[in-house]
Amino acid sequence: MNVLEAIETRRAYRSLAPVDITPDLLRDLARCAQLAPSCNNNQPWRFVFIHGKENLERFHPVLSSPGNDWAKAASLIVAVCSRKEDDCLIKDREYHLFGDGLAAAFLILRATELGLVAHPIAGYRPKKAREILGIPEDDQVITLINIGKRAAEISPVLSPKQVEQESTRPERKPLSEFAFDNRFGAPLAGESGR
Ligand SMILES: Cc1cc2nc3c(=O)[nH]c(=O)nc-3n(C[C@H](O)[C@H](O)[C@H](O)COP(=O)(O)O)c2cc1C
Repeated sequence: MNVLEAIETRRAYRSLAPVDITPDLLRDLARCAQLAPSCNNNQPWRFVFIHGKENLERFHPVLSSPGNDWAKAASLIVAVCSRKEDDCLIKDREYHLFGDGLAAAFLILRATELGLVAHPIAGYRPKKAREILGIPEDDQVITLINIGKRAAEISPVLSPKQVEQESTRPERKPLSEFAFDNRFGAPLAGESGR
């Protein structure tokens, strides 16, 4: 699978089947995140890999939102955190979350290449995550990436909208709304304007 194929294959599926989590898999995913670019090579990201029945069950109260019950079927949950002091602070620009996003994207694309679903979420209890995982107070827990195999059956805990999204990728904004040619708002060649 090349990069374009991984980008096109990746989906935030919610019907997850179990997958074997090996030390090699964890190292592989961590290695891909490690190679992400960061401001001044600061590498602000920290990943806590949560796996194994007992550890996952202990972590499940973090998944507070009913809309995210599906994530309880993940075989691996990756908590991504960082401190703003650990990356570039250039006047009002704080780069740590940008770095986290890049590293998380590398991990997600690698998981996709390995035939896995890697679905990031924002709906969880960050304080509870910090408490259970021993993450320091000043670290922001920015996402949980839920990893498993795509299940053949649709998860019974999904809402009708979530069921629809299992087969249809949520629509994207047209290029004309975010990709500009030389000047903000100017559409790329071949794209109609707003
Ligand atoms: C920062 C972030 C937070 C998200 N939070 C949730 C969430 O709490 N629950 C959920 O089911 N999906 C969540 N998603 C997944 C998005 O809903 C999904 O990526 C989007 O609808 C596009 O679908 P696609 O990734 O399959 O193309 C999140 C994605 C990102 C990047």
